[in-house]
Amino acid sequence: MAKNIIFCFSGTGNCLNIANNIAKVLGETKIVRIRDNVSFTDATGYDKVGFVFPCYGGGAPEDVLDFAMKLRVYPGTYTFGITSCSAYMGTGLAKLNKIIPLDYWGVITHQCSCIWLFPHKLMMPLLTIGEAQVRSEELAENMAGDISDGVVKVQRPPMNILNAFENMLWPAIAKKKIASFKVSDKCIACGQCVKLCPRGNIRLENGRAVIGSNCAQCLGCLQYCPESAISIGRITDKREHYHNPKIRAQDLF
Ligand SMILES: Cc1cc2nc3c(=O)[nH]c(=O)nc-3n(C[C@H](O)[C@H](O)[C@H](O)COP(=O)(O)O)c2cc1C
Repeated sequence: MAKNIIFCFSGTGNCLNIANNIAKVLGETKIVRIRDNVSFTDATGYDKVGFVFPCYGGGAPEDVLDFAMKLRVYPGTYTFGITSCSAYMGTGLAKLNKIIPLDYWGVITHQCSCIWLFPHKLMMPLLTIGEAQVRSEELAENMAGDISDGVVKVQRPPMNILNAFENMLWPAIAKKKIASFKVSDKCIACGQCVKLCPRGNIRLENGRAVIGSNCAQCLGCLQYCPESAISIGRITDKREHYHNPKIRAQDLF
């Protein structure tokens, strides 16, 4: 059995890459992906228990919070949470902290995966994909050093009220967006999006991907599509697609 465990939710690979980089420094660390098929509920017996997940709409993906509610962690276990975002950390860690008290909070900004809202370059600070990746790796290594040493660090989210408000409005905005998913004739029914979807919400029908309404908003299907056949509104056809440069689609299956 590994000594440490990291639970990771990732749509376009930034968070999986961060989790990998942290695990590399910690050593003997198992990474469990938060996906529809994960039946993991027992995190007792691990020295360090961590979460790495993106900020969505000023909060956390609901899959992460639902998962955390079912998880058993020994009181006194060292716990950490790292959120990746394009600009601001939001209330995700604060929400997770209410479910599983966290000893260490970390934030790593990276390229933006929310293609229908912003181009991927619009991140804070403004960096190219390569620069953002180097920075993310350095920050992950520093945080992993802290985590390895058992440093206790709680970073309360700035603008908590604004983020909380945004996060309150988010489900309605997201629901509208999800309804506008389109799969074009370019689809070659390769099935990659079916394997990527963390909620099993995509199926192949008559030689084409069909996206259901139970979407986690991760956008992995759209961003990794080899034919750029998936869109949410015309703006997503015009914008350059993005996924983490070190994470291939199959790493996320
Ligand atoms: C639906 C959606 C909503 C997002 N909302 C925010 C946000 O409110 N604030 C922010 O700074 N970044 C936001 N982002 C950007 C992601 O948090 C960021 O790109 C993250 O690194 C993606 O991680 P991943 O590649 O592991 O999926 C959002 C991304 C998506 C897909």
